Amino acid sequence: MIKLKEHITNNSIENEYSKSISLEHRKKFAQFFTPFPIASLMANWVLGNEYLKTVLEPAFGLGVFSRAILNHKEDIEIKGFEVDKTIFEHGKQYFYDTENINLILQDYMYNDWHNKYDGIICNPPYFKFHDYDNKNIIKEIETNLKCKLNGFTNLYTLFLLKSIHQLSPNGRCAYIIPSEFLNSDYGKLVKTYLLKSRTLKHVIVIDFEENIFDDALTTASIILCANDNLTDKVQFSNIQSIQDLSKIDQLINDYPNISKTAQTYNYTELNPEIKWKAYYQKQNSIKFKNLIPFSTYAKVVRGIATGSNDFFTFSVSKSKEYSIDEQFLLPCICKSLEAKKSFFTTSDFEELKENDKTIFLLNAQNSTDEGVIKYLRKGEAEGIDKKFLTASRTPWYALENRPPAPIWVSVFNRTGLRFIRNEANVSNLTTYHCIYPKQTTLFSEIKMDLLFAYLLTKTAKQIFEDNSREYGNGLQKFEPNDLNKGMMLDLGQLNETAKHQILTLYQQYRNKVIENKNGEDLINEIDKIFVNIFTEEEERT
Ligand SMILES: C[S@@+](CC[C@H](N)C(=O)[O-])C[C@H]1O[C@@H](n2cnc3c(N)ncnc32)[C@H](O)[C@@H]1O
Repeated sequence: MIKLKEHITNNSIENEYSKSISLEHRKKFAQFFTPFPIASLMANWVLGNEYLKTVLEPAFGLGVFSRAILNHKEDIEIKGFEVDKTIFEHGKQYFYDTENINLILQDYMYNDWHNKYDGIICNPPYFKFHDYDNKNIIKEIETNLKCKLNGFTNLYTLFLLKSIHQLSPNGRCAYIIPSEFLNSDYGKLVKTYLLKSRTLKHVIVIDFEENIFDDALTTASIILCANDNLTDKVQFSNIQSIQDLSKIDQLINDYPNISKTAQTYNYTELNPEIKWKAYYQKQNSIKFKNLIPFSTYAKVVRGIATGSNDFFTFSVSKSKEYSIDEQFLLPCICKSLEAKKSFFTTSDFEELKENDKTIFLLNAQNSTDEGVIKYLRKGEAEGIDKKFLTASRTPWYALENRPPAPIWVSVFNRTGLRFIRNEANVSNLTTYHCIYPKQTTLFSEIKMDLLFAYLLTKTAKQIFEDNSREYGNGLQKFEPNDLNKGMMLDLGQLNETAKHQILTLYQQYRNKVIENKNGEDLINEIDKIFVNIFTEEEERT
């Protein structure tokens, strides 16, 4: 039998398991393991409860947290839940002679609702998509917590909700989870619960250069809770490297004294409805005055989703092959790389067409054309009509009704937002979001060119960044509503002279881009005008 002592303070058990079990199996159960130094730090929080007798590990895996606890205190009663038999059997052999540990092969979400614990410590399963059996779990939570949940959620937040419910008086809970919930709609409920229960004490956002979890595309955060009334403050911290863990150890030792830093808030100051990055990340918008929601001047919606791009998109040669006349094809940009510059003109479109790029979308509705009908039959034979999106449409090949948008924005990239003026007036797939300036607003009507000139500046992008979602590895993502709810400078406040200056520089920039020259210096000039007009006095001095 294997001796636990040799493996208690490192990840050798996890490393050995990862080598012997396929990635496919590990992914199926979200088996990504906590590095021991982090597990040990979280265990210190739980061990800080002077009344600690019982501990629960809801997603046991190979018991890294239990090892970290036992390393300090051998006489704790530990219960572990694990749903996967393979890892369960693997883990059990290390704990065979530890009598005070009780391992249970069961789904945590459906069991053990009535027990309370002095410590709960967990790295819950994280599935990127909402592909878990959420409906039943939500019912289970609603019954037990007597609350109403929104259908869109992520399993890891439900684990946390249940664990908070299971804390005994003075009980402590430490969770490591994606920081995504702090800034997304599905996190609002758990944030509300953390504040209402007054259990949340520390939020530690881990901004390591490398991802902690082998290949999960997300940044992690450590959530420390205590079911005591020792403080009504919550502190946010950011850590950049493993070395910073000692700073967090200090915070843990100092509890319940929470130091008064810029990132410390009373419960009443925290709003569960907003993105919490406002509390732990420098906000670019702070230095500007006269900000308004972007939705005041424009509306952002996602591009056309076809349900099967291979079937619905065409190049000239494909249209010839299937005898589809151009009158049944909608000019459409299908790949973001195909619009390289800030302006997409009719001649850019013609060039793509000549190079036989995929730049059309089948627009078959009401057509009796023989070629079109034949192509649709082919689609039905291939089951295209039964796909998720097409099956819900009537007829199945109907296109979403989206007029061409005058401005596009790329949705997922490393270098920040990229705006493109669609002068060719063609449609776009979901690689871009569509931006439609509002025709009439209660405020002054702003010109499309002025709006676009603003969007090209660094200032516009920085202000939007306050409202992005992070995906780890420096990837940013903006859903249409992140932009609608994002802020912008109120261009309606510009006087005629400033507008004229900006539009003149903008025309010069456009000419340069069209001639394939670099016009960045002109955009910088425009940016300077905005910064001068909209920066708060004290920021400038
Ligand atoms: C992210 S891993 C963490 C493992 C370990 N605690 C660690 O931190 O290294 C999550 C573990 O929970 C298990 N798991 C997944 N769904 C579960 C459920 N509903 N109930 C209990 N365990 C579950 C997985 O098999 C996996 O071992």
